[in-house]
Amino acid sequence: MKKKKIFFLKIVVAFIVLILIASICSFWYVNKTFISFEDGYDNRTDILELTIDGYTFLDRNNNNKLDIYEDDREVIADRVLDVLSQMTLQEKIHLLKGTGMASTIGMTKPDGIPGAVGAIVPTPRLGIPTVHLSDGPAGLRIEPSRENDNKTYYCTAFPIATLLASSWNEALVYEVGNAMGKEAKAYGIDVILGPAANIHRHPLCGRNFEYFSEDPLLSGFMGASIVNGIQSNGIGTSVKHFVANNQETNRVLNDVIVSDRAMHEIYLKGFEHIVKRSQPWTIMSSYNKINGVYTSESEWLLTDILRNKWGFKGLVMTDWYGGRSPTSQISAGNDLLEPGTNRQWKALTKAANNGELSMDAIDKSVKRILGLVFKTKKMQNYRFNNSPDLKKHATITRNSAAEGMVLLKNEKSLPFTNKKNIALLGITSYEFIAGGTGSGDVNEAYTISLEEGFLNAGFRINKTAKQIVESHRKVNPNGFIRPQGLDAIFTPFSPPEISYSTDQINDIVATSDVGVLTLGRNSGEGGDRLEKDDFLLTKTEQEMIVKFSEAFHKRNKKIIVVLNIGGVIETASWKHLPDAILLAWQGGQEGGNSVVDILSGKITPSGKLPMTFPVNLSDHDSHKNFPKNPKMITIEGLVKNLIFPPSETPKAEKVKDEDYTFYDEDVFVGYRHFDTKDVAVSFPFGFGLSYTDFDYSPMKLEIENDTINILLHIKNIGAFPGKEVVQFYTEKLNSTINRPSQELKSFTKTKLLKSGENDEISVKIPIKELSYWNETINDWSIEEGEYTIKVGGSSRDIRQAIRVSL
Ligand code: BGC
Repeated sequence: MKKKKIFFLKIVVAFIVLILIASICSFWYVNKTFISFEDGYDNRTDILELTIDGYTFLDRNNNNKLDIYEDDREVIADRVLDVLSQMTLQEKIHLLKGTGMASTIGMTKPDGIPGAVGAIVPTPRLGIPTVHLSDGPAGLRIEPSRENDNKTYYCTAFPIATLLASSWNEALVYEVGNAMGKEAKAYGIDVILGPAANIHRHPLCGRNFEYFSEDPLLSGFMGASIVNGIQSNGIGTSVKHFVANNQETNRVLNDVIVSDRAMHEIYLKGFEHIVKRSQPWTIMSSYNKINGVYTSESEWLLTDILRNKWGFKGLVMTDWYGGRSPTSQISAGNDLLEPGTNRQWKALTKAANNGELSMDAIDKSVKRILGLVFKTKKMQNYRFNNSPDLKKHATITRNSAAEGMVLLKNEKSLPFTNKKNIALLGITSYEFIAGGTGSGDVNEAYTISLEEGFLNAGFRINKTAKQIVESHRKVNPNGFIRPQGLDAIFTPFSPPEISYSTDQINDIVATSDVGVLTLGRNSGEGGDRLEKDDFLLTKTEQEMIVKFSEAFHKRNKKIIVVLNIGGVIETASWKHLPDAILLAWQGGQEGGNSVVDILSGKITPSGKLPMTFPVNLSDHDSHKNFPKNPKMITIEGLVKNLIFPPSETPKAEKVKDEDYTFYDEDVFVGYRHFDTKDVAVSFPFGFGLSYTDFDYSPMKLEIENDTINILLHIKNIGAFPGKEVVQFYTEKLNSTINRPSQELKSFTKTKLLKSGENDEISVKIPIKELSYWNETINDWSIEEGEYTIKVGGSSRDIRQAIRVSL
């Protein structure tokens, strides 16, 4: 018996020892492969200044001479060539991949930036510094606190990209970009990983909030404005995810099966506008494949189209761990592998040594990377102060958020005419959502809830409604714990909704002047949304709307619904119930103040929809080919996939909408489908109400060489000051090809017009923008004949149309 026990004990001890050894080995492997493998390549901080012939410079390679690359007076191209000529092959290859994950998980070197998710490696022998990359589209995402440091490093949570696009205001979006760039500069970040410019192909893509629109022109113009704003500070951008990354389900393996025409007219077009209008420092290739080829390994995309056709001058980096073959990536023109692994380093070294990776490809990519490094503040030895003007940026985010909120309905209820007792209903009124989750999140210092917004503006908050929320919190303590740290990345915070009893409803209505009911939605990277209980309202939400609307109306009082959401939801079945609906989107950290600025009439709403709100999801032509059973990525799953990259599913076992997705709707995305097929929608593309009305003067049109010049006047004929978004669509009459019935070709927003004031609108549409992608000749073609040029307040509110012959 004793022997048996000892034997058993020995087995247990051996097992524990084995597990310990396996754990140590795994940790060592993970650390040396993904986290920290940069031994000997530390950023140099000891570079000395030298003065020769009255010129002071940093003697980066310590040779007591002024090299061309050390001379700030020389042009960057020459400096790059000089340093390239001094680099060893090993140093060049080293530069092609990032430094690993250490700083993402807070394990930074002393001069690192915790939370900055990537870096361009330094070349210490030549004194080339580390360059820091950080998310993302709604503001910087760095760790707000640091070990042994009392200072905080909060960043401003600006409105989500969808809201910015809803402003249709390029100058305003530039200003937001400018503020983001200033924050990056203050925190030592050199490149912001954004904006994200994928098309809203289907309402349920989990990352739509990071993206602008279902329309490539609006998407491209907004993207370019933000890039120009950020880059005006000498801070780079990485426009992502290039391209056709329109679902999160199986995003690293998904193969997009799409026509060349849809690629050019819809998915590439927005990026083309951005490249041509703003020349971003970098582009981030996406995870997915296109017609069988990973975007990061596609020479057609990254070299033929992006560089040769569009004239892109910057570098291309991968999405994090995107693609499979480092050699194919560099050869295709994907210059930088982020965040970088030791595996990639070894694979590139091997490929360079055996000739699989050409010296020419290596040099091209290294030159592009160095070109960026030389433009950064790091190379100019700029001393960042970690003190951005967060106060000023709070005002910028507040105003920009208000300008992108869309008034969907208003039956003589808004703005509020006096300071009322407001019944705030629904949990989201008290737990306002600033933005989505994942890499598009921001670590902001605070988020102004709707409750705080009303209080700040001097309104009274109904106590009965508030007490119900307090008790609800007490009985559901776990539902209100916000996910923290890594967990927060893939877990949207969604506290349980309140189920109001009839007595509670009656009490609230009796003691308040007006009801404001907020519906919230939160989603993000790593998962698509569901139809049930997400696109469609939950049963509790439906009941809230029905019962509160009935109760308020019985007492002749109004009820307003506020939508604090990141993506489209169903509205057709219930929109007749409340008196007003404000689509507040996710308005950043000042969201509650921005909503109250609109409800109180301080700001007249002027946002318009950058996508269609359909009646049913299935009305979208893309719905037949979009994942219906999405699964959310987990951190464990992510780590597993990193260590053991999932292998390709055998052809016969591939699952539709997961392993591959057919883009059968072709160019008929969003309103291009709804308007062509005349499908009823809940709210059309470009729609949004104001507190005032606008008159459109007769449009004057003139064709000059290759441009259509349009001129008209917009007059504010209502009682409130306001701005109008003016949209220009074109239609080819009697087209011989299957074209959308109309497409947005230009837009503008008036200045703030006082009652009775006029604004002159003048836009130019290049005729070549009316062409379609002709697959027979593999190029753009312009159809000759009759077109109509339309102007309107939405895709379904066309005020005038003029025929032209081209
Ligand atoms: C996302 C990118 C992001 C990167 C770094 C990836 O998972 O797709 O948008 O920039 O992570 O956080």
